Amino acid sequence: MSCKIDYQPAPSLLENRIVLVTGAGDGIGRAAALSYAQHGATVILLGRTIAKLERVYDEIEAAGGPQPAIFPLNFEGATLKDFHDMAKTLDKEFGRLDGLLHNAGLLGRITPFDQYDPELWQQVMQVNINGPIWMTQALLPLLQESDDASVIFTSSSVGRKGRAYWGAYSVSKFATEGFVDVLADELQSQPNIRINSLNPGATRTQMRRSAFPGEDPAALRSPEAIMPTYLWLMGPDSTGVSGQKLDAQPPRI
Ligand SMILES: NC(=O)c1ccc[n+]([C@@H]2O[C@H](COP(=O)([O-])OP(=O)(O)OC[C@H]3O[C@@H](n4cnc5c(N)ncnc54)[C@H](OP(=O)(O)O)[C@@H]3O)[C@@H](O)[C@H]2O)c1
Repeated sequence: MSCKIDYQPAPSLLENRIVLVTGAGDGIGRAAALSYAQHGATVILLGRTIAKLERVYDEIEAAGGPQPAIFPLNFEGATLKDFHDMAKTLDKEFGRLDGLLHNAGLLGRITPFDQYDPELWQQVMQVNINGPIWMTQALLPLLQESDDASVIFTSSSVGRKGRAYWGAYSVSKFATEGFVDVLADELQSQPNIRINSLNPGATRTQMRRSAFPGEDPAALRSPEAIMPTYLWLMGPDSTGVSGQKLDAQPPRI
């Protein structure tokens, strides 16, 4: 399926939708939270650095968007109980969830496998795939309350073709793609919930700078520039699309 970089969203695309964004304080997650709010969504800002979430909160308010909510959570230490407590709180506050963007991610280290630290490997798997899986399980009842819920898992090109030295990050993204296949197939009988994976492609963020320190950031698209596909996949124009592997931008030449 081609990317939707030229998609022109209606200004009220996400009106009356409750959307949770993980890793909403920085990079792509921050841009998605702002963009979703700008298109009418009530956004739940989840992340581990409260000061960053508060800045995004203030930006949404200053722009006149629907009042967002902040949910501090660090995937590294989060337990099943934390995810279920979160679901209870959201149920009380909102009663349903219309969108879930799994965006928080950890790069780990780009290093030969024989030097990969097992503890760091576990951390990357915890943040990038295990935490998001159990969060999804806890939130399924709230997603089932929606008429049209979109769950987006953030992938990567190294989750579609492995690359030397990318270790746990690459493996976690392969797992992400696999989980999307499994859950989308399983939820076929519930057409009100769609599950897809989205590869942002090379984007100008802190994570990209860490992975490619010698690269000229000006040669990359900004997080804001890749939002059309994020909006399309979150909103009603992609209703019925599930189990797909999408790209937010065309491949770089
Ligand atoms: N940028 C790219 O070129 C690119 C390409 C392919 C895929 N991706 C994927 O796109 C997603 C966003 O990446 P990005 O480039 O925007 O990276 P980023 O700027 O490093 O942002 C990552 C976000 O994840 C949050 N996060 C990290 N560890 C967390 C934890 N333990 N608990 C909760 N939140 C945590 C960070 O919070 P703090 O700000 O508090 O650290 C931050 O908000 C990731 O899934 C990444 O794998 C990015």
